[in-house]
Amino acid sequence: MILEEQINKDNLPKHLAIIMDGNGRWAKQQGMIRAFGHEKGTKSVRETVECCAKLGIENLTLYAFSTENWNRPKLEVDTLMNLLIKSLKKELKTLQKNEIRLNSIGNLSLLPTSAHKELLEVINKTKENKRMTLTLALSYGSREELVSAIKTICDKVKNNIISPESIDETIINQHLYTHNLPDVDLLIRTSGEHRISNFLLWQIAYAELFFTDVLWPDFREQHLYEAIISYQKRERRFGKTSEQIK
Ligand code: IPE
Ligand code: IPE
Ligand code: MG
Repeated sequence: MILEEQINKDNLPKHLAIIMDGNGRWAKQQGMIRAFGHEKGTKSVRETVECCAKLGIENLTLYAFSTENWNRPKLEVDTLMNLLIKSLKKELKTLQKNEIRLNSIGNLSLLPTSAHKELLEVINKTKENKRMTLTLALSYGSREELVSAIKTICDKVKNNIISPESIDETIINQHLYTHNLPDVDLLIRTSGEHRISNFLLWQIAYAELFFTDVLWPDFREQHLYEAIISYQKRERRFGKTSEQIK
């Protein structure tokens, strides 16, 4: 068992991102319908969010619904949207208690009005909280994010607001949904899948990756500790040699 004390608080990821995967398979293993897995997954969300705040992680980003997930059966999409509304209502007090600011990334205009409204309300109510920023990736796709950023930049060039020569990594960053977040340091994916599924492609350029077979509804504090310990044992060289880092 890993104890909280074993985690070096001076070397925490500044930005932790999680692809919460495996709800459907978890439900199937229990002989239940997929919705049951999504419902159970919300408990893992709450535990993970509270644990990150307690540890002192400043930014946590959770992949909750992708642009591709709109292609799931309507019943499942509706279930997920209703669960989102229910969770936002229920967890507002958890966010306030832990001084967590809610943020979101993605093409929110595609969300049902009621979900969009609830989301904006919680974002607004928690906007002064300073301990941790919790970002929900909803209707999020990294390629869609890049397309939308490029369109905005092109518009600014056309209207002489920026010159083509001035376009650099900083300008691109400023036009992403994640403009107010640092690069991802650690990316966790549950459920044994080893892929990125259109999540934060630009922002994970130098992230450390951690894959676990644990299905999201089974993801507990211990699994999070395990990922952070693994992260803290790694040498992040950013292209340099090991000698240059030491
Ligand atoms: C993750 O679990 C939740 C969402 C993608 C919304 P899945 O629903 O993808 O579960 P599996 O991968 O089918 O087991
Ligand atoms: C990725 O999970 C999206 C979220 C966790 C919200 P998926 O289950 O949709 O990913 P793929 O399609 O299996 O790669
Ligand atoms: Mg999945």
